[in-house]
Amino acid sequence: MKITIIGTGYVGLVTGACLAELGNDVFCLDVDQSKVDILNNGGIPIHEPGLEDVVARNRAAGRLKFSTDLAASVAHGDVQFIAVGTPPDEDGSADLQYVLAAARNIGKHMTGFKVIVDKSTVPVGTAGKVSAAIAQELQQRGNTGATFSVVSNPEFLKEGAAVEDFMRPDRIVIGHDSTAEGLQAYAAMKKLYAPFNRNHERTYWMDVRSAEFTKYAANAMLATRISFMNELANLADQVGADIEAVRHGIGSDPRIGHSFLYAGCGYGGSCFPKDVQALERTARAYGQELHILRAVEQVNNNQKHVLGKKVVARFGENLQGRHFAIWGLAFKPNTDDMREASSRVLLGELIARGATVAVFDPVAMKEAKRVLALDFNSDESILSRIRFSESPMDALQDADALAIVTEWKAFRSPDFEQLKSKLKAPVIFDGRNLFEPQVMADASIEYHGIGRSILT
Ligand code: NAD
Ligand code: UGA
Repeated sequence: MKITIIGTGYVGLVTGACLAELGNDVFCLDVDQSKVDILNNGGIPIHEPGLEDVVARNRAAGRLKFSTDLAASVAHGDVQFIAVGTPPDEDGSADLQYVLAAARNIGKHMTGFKVIVDKSTVPVGTAGKVSAAIAQELQQRGNTGATFSVVSNPEFLKEGAAVEDFMRPDRIVIGHDSTAEGLQAYAAMKKLYAPFNRNHERTYWMDVRSAEFTKYAANAMLATRISFMNELANLADQVGADIEAVRHGIGSDPRIGHSFLYAGCGYGGSCFPKDVQALERTARAYGQELHILRAVEQVNNNQKHVLGKKVVARFGENLQGRHFAIWGLAFKPNTDDMREASSRVLLGELIARGATVAVFDPVAMKEAKRVLALDFNSDESILSRIRFSESPMDALQDADALAIVTEWKAFRSPDFEQLKSKLKAPVIFDGRNLFEPQVMADASIEYHGIGRSILT
């Protein structure tokens, strides 16, 4: 099928590359010339395991193209995926300016029948706004005879596992309407996703508003589980219980399940923080308060300070003359994405209290340099207090303590004797509960996990 993907970020690029892999003829549009140049030169602008190979293979086969040509992008695809960003507005609601700009561009250039797919995460009712934006452009062009239908097909992939998630989805959600055009769109989507449904049906067909809502409900539920566990972990710290034992104990109940119960130093990324806020805003627009989600957000904002608080409790408010090592900068492993990363909050606190810091991340160093320059307004007197290290061990040299913020596999089994020889004193603040408190005690390492205690 002929497919256009509008926006070549995490979702757009993965969607485009994976649909090309299935044999479709895919045209990817982006307004960012530098991204398109990287892609046309054989690179990819993000770190995502396996993606570069899929992109290269399909470019070489002529099934995957990248361009900034607005008119050509509309002419190409019978199905037009909108996969642009929906960042938070000043008040936390989803900013739809990029989605609506994409819609207007379709309306400006389209002929014949097009299926418009909202792939971006958008509030309930957005398909109606996309429809109106396209219809307005068509009206301005006079009677073109062009027709279209907007469907909602939210994306559930996780960064760091995006290709695998897209190729082997646990579900595909598609919302369409029951007009003649809506049924035509249904038929096109059914054909496009047929390869995913070969062994068993994974597609959930529903109305458009429910599909839009489903995406927010999923992220809100996952974020709620994390904040719930983080709050319990903080209590476990107080009462002397081990949150990891508790996690196993409750996760074994199939009604609860094991996933997304890991306590830590807060959730980050481009989606949970913004989607929780956006759903709260949607509710408020209808005069309803989502009390649970408000708490989820507050707990998470506090949790990003949990490592900073533990450092202060151990070393005091004034950290002048202290030096810390940080392992992990990205918001989660296997990505270089620094959006809403907990490392930025910890760094801000340590720097504000006068400390110097040595940091290491297996892939996010370049992105971290860019983002931290923005966080600290390119102030060299501050940035010079952050050393970007060559390796995890290099970061430890003469540090008063190590703080772990991201659970990269490379951090899971360090040589503890070497680690101790590098640190000034053997102190670890573990924001992702990578190590066993008993193992740390046996190795004479002072260990501060999140809700961890030694089982007696
Ligand atoms: P992103 O910021 O990585 O990429 C968005 C891209 O769209 C950018 O390259 C930008 O230049 C481009 N763009 C903006 N306006 C455009 C226009 N008018 N025409 C063409 N290109 C345009 O965003 P992302 O992380 O891929 O997220 C996209 C959407 O998918 C968001 O709504 C997000 O909530 C949702 N989502 C993201 C993930 C994820 O893991 N990142 C997962 C599921 C859903
Ligand atoms: C999340 C969802 O998992 C995807 O299904 C969804 O498509 C995506 O958001 C989105 O809408 O963009 P992602 O943000 O890539 O995916 O990463 P997750 O693996 O969900 O992790 C998010 C954050 O939660 C990370 O900071 C992670 O460290 C934290 N987390 C996760 C925990 O603190 N505890 C857990 O048990 C799980």
